[in-house]
Parts: sequence; structure tokens; C-alpha cells
Amino acid sequence: MHVFDRKKDLQSFLQNERNKNRTIALVATMGALHQGHLSLVKKAILETDVVIVSVFVNPTQFDQKEDLEKYPRNLDKDLALLQSVDPNIVVFTPTASEIYGEQVVSKSYDFDGLDKVMEGAFRTGHFDGVGTIVELFLKTVSPDRAYFGEKDFQQLQIIKKMVASKQLPYTIVGCPIEREANGLAMSSRNERLSPSTREEAGFIYKTLKAAKAKFGTESAKGIKDWVNTQFAENQTLELEYFEITDEDTLTPMNEKQATQKYRAFIAVYADGVRLIDNLRLN
Ligand code: PAJ
Repeated sequence: MHVFDRKKDLQSFLQNERNKNRTIALVATMGALHQGHLSLVKKAILETDVVIVSVFVNPTQFDQKEDLEKYPRNLDKDLALLQSVDPNIVVFTPTASEIYGEQVVSKSYDFDGLDKVMEGAFRTGHFDGVGTIVELFLKTVSPDRAYFGEKDFQQLQIIKKMVASKQLPYTIVGCPIEREANGLAMSSRNERLSPSTREEAGFIYKTLKAAKAKFGTESAKGIKDWVNTQFAENQTLELEYFEITDEDTLTPMNEKQATQKYRAFIAVYADGVRLIDNLRLN
């Protein structure tokens, strides 16, 4: 395993690999790694020669100070997990000052409206923070392929948009959501849930699946109302939003059109922890 915390050391290592005609992958993470992250790493290992995993809790994408402070951090465990997946893995663990220098601020982006809904609407400045760090990691590593999970589907679309609009020469690869046994989407934040809430949170995916079953016959409004009622009756989980949108533009669905792909998106609070999930509907 190779661990770097300086950009220039990572870059000289990568230059050497490129000179040997090896293809390079980037998997960007904020650590507290779980099987969801590792599924991206394993796909990258199958498809490329050298895999770089970044572990950096990016301050500029957090809109709540408390969420940033409570975000789980466990680098030793992360390194042991990565080592067990591949002893040749490359890990980039920069400090905030290595990344941002003195001024920890985001750039601002035009994501063509993709950042105006759902996560963007509820988390001010979040996607400018994500865009800033992902652009920086992409330009530092110059990967052939970069892997992102559909768990954060809106983030995935925004990163694709940024790469296309800036004509950056990297292939962005989307990867399916990994789930716990009860259906809860794996997330570093799940560690902050009590065991009983973690079990109860399987209700989120159960509701998404029920929404999908209704999608053939009921209107978007009918499904949204039904989901709202389900959560109003739940004592543990508090619904922040449920939306059905076009998969590419993320605009809310009005009338169903046969040619379009639709996806349901949800954000829920449980034990004060914010959980998100989504599911393709057709
Ligand atoms: P983080 O939440 O650590 O997630 C890192 C990557 O793992 C993201 O692409 C995310 O979508 C993917 N991922 C997380 N849980 C997953 C699951 N259950 N199944 C499949 N993929 C999953 O997303 C971020 O970090 C940050 O915003 C980042 C892109 C690193 C920028 O700071």
C-alpha cells in the first residue's frame, strides 16, 4: 500500500506509473469506509491498473458545523480495509491546508439547475463544495476513470455535468447502491444510529420500493402524498423531502412520459442523522 499526504508526492508516483502505460482510477471518499465504498474500489481494480482512493472529510461541502464535527473518522481502520482489498492500493490522505491553503472556501459553479433541487435546496453551498473538491482531486490525479456511487445520485449527475461542461478528459463511472441486510443504503453516517434506529431505517428503502410499485398506476402527487402519510405515522424517522424527478435533468415529474427515465429521491432524519436514498422507478 502506498499512502501519500502531499499532492506532489502522489503526482510523481503517478507519473512513474503512467510512464509504464498503466491506467489510473480515482475513488474519492470522506473515509469511514464501508462495503459501499469498497464496491467502487473493487470495480476500479477490475477496470484499471492503479487505483487511488482519496480519504478527506471536505469541510466546504458541510452546511452544518455539527455534521462536520460529528462526521466519523477512522483512518487506521480505513487503511486496514483498503490493504485487505488490495495490497498495492494507493491512498491519498491530504490535510485541509494541503488542499485549500489558508482559505478554506469553495469556487462557485453553474450546474445548469441540477444543484437547485433536493440536496442543493436543503444544503446551502453543498454542491459548490463538492464541485471544488472533486475538480481538484480529478486535476491532481488525472485519472482515466473516476468512480462515484448512485447512493449520491444527484452528486453523480452534477459531477458528470461539471466534467462535460469543462471538457475534462476523465470518464465518470456510476456504481449501484450497496445496502445493509434490511435495505438501508450503506453510509458512513449509519454508524451514528442506535441499533434499533438502524433497524427501523430499513423503512426508507421499503417505502421507496412501495413507491416504485405504485408508479405504474398512481400519479406523482398521489405517491408523494402516500409517502408523506407513511412518515407522518412513523415515530422514529422524520421525512425531509420525497421527490420524483426526471433522472437526467432532476426536474420534478409532472405528467409521465413514456420516453423519460424517472427516479425517486428521499431524505430522512433519524436520531438527528440525515440519511438519503434513491431508486429508479422505470
Ligand atoms: P462519501 O460519502 O464518503 O462517498 C464516497 C463515494 O462512495 C461516493 O461516490 C458515494 O456515492 C459512494 N457511496 C457511498 N455509499 C455508497 C453505497 N451505499 N453504495 C454505493 N456507493 C456508495 O460522496 C462523498 O463521500 C463526497 O461528497 C466526495 C465525492 C468524496 C467529495 O468530498
